[in-house]
Amino acid sequence: MLKNRLFGRDIISVDEFSLDDLANIFSVAKKMQRLVYSHGSSNLLRGKIMTALFYEPSSRTFGSFLAAMQRLGGGIIPIQGVNFSSVVKGETLSDTIRVFENYSDVIVLRHPEVGSAKIAAEFSSKPIINSGDGVGEHPTQGLLDMYTIVSRFGNIKSLTVTMVGDMMNGRTVHSLAKLLSLYKHIHINFVSPDSLRFPKEILLLLKDRGVSVHEQETLADMLPHTDVLYVTRMQKERFTDLTKYEKLKNYYIVTPTLLKNFKKSGIVMHPLPRVGEITMDVDLDPRAVYITEQMKNGMFIRMALLAMILTKNIL
Ligand code: NCD
Repeated sequence: MLKNRLFGRDIISVDEFSLDDLANIFSVAKKMQRLVYSHGSSNLLRGKIMTALFYEPSSRTFGSFLAAMQRLGGGIIPIQGVNFSSVVKGETLSDTIRVFENYSDVIVLRHPEVGSAKIAAEFSSKPIINSGDGVGEHPTQGLLDMYTIVSRFGNIKSLTVTMVGDMMNGRTVHSLAKLLSLYKHIHINFVSPDSLRFPKEILLLLKDRGVSVHEQETLADMLPHTDVLYVTRMQKERFTDLTKYEKLKNYYIVTPTLLKNFKKSGIVMHPLPRVGEITMDVDLDPRAVYITEQMKNGMFIRMALLAMILTKNIL
């Protein structure tokens, strides 16, 4: 029997995963997909409880975790919009975590400060799943994005991914780029305004792992060679100067006209929410997967992760 390396473990960063781990997670996600389509739900996690503790706004991630747990027969403690004071240094987060570990078997945490999930995990005897720690990482989003790409492109032989938008503050691109670096023959274009460039330390890590990377400000000339166009919004809540945000918010707008030069076999992704960077008429393009496949995969991946963390013999 294959070893389930996720059993009882935290998910803090995508750095924890190997290609084998990804293959196992994706194979369980596929089973979850079949389960949902054939039966809707199961009792696999009956008697288990998940606390979803969200200190930052969320609807998709929050909703898909709740749906995932309930489709597997588990219970939920949904907590959204918690007030906090400087938690990474202070007591509040650790106290809250220590309270909720008494009630639940797993804690899903979203928090505005980088490193908060790691700190929570140090205090918690129950597994912590990082669902976004400020501008740091968003590992479960990275996994669902990677799953969407692998499901479309199969055994990746060579792939060009163009990420566009707020490369500095977008945690989803940080996690996805690191996951892509586990594969061979990956080329990533980071397209952003000069003041919102992708973090240097992750860029170096990618280069070290053999990824060919390229940074530039313009998008259109990248499209004919791009397989995956990954669009992100400018992360308004991370700007200290809102006039700067106002200037940059419409820097990139993906429209059907722009996509005329995009590969026929390509896909357009977005972690959502979008705030104008992809016009609504792009939704009709068969290459647009952000509201369809990518969203559905979020729930399947989260079902797989909960099942693997809470059940030893799942593989
Ligand atoms: C992303 C996030 O929270 O980082 N959203 C999400 O999880 N679906 C992307 C974003 O907010 O721009």
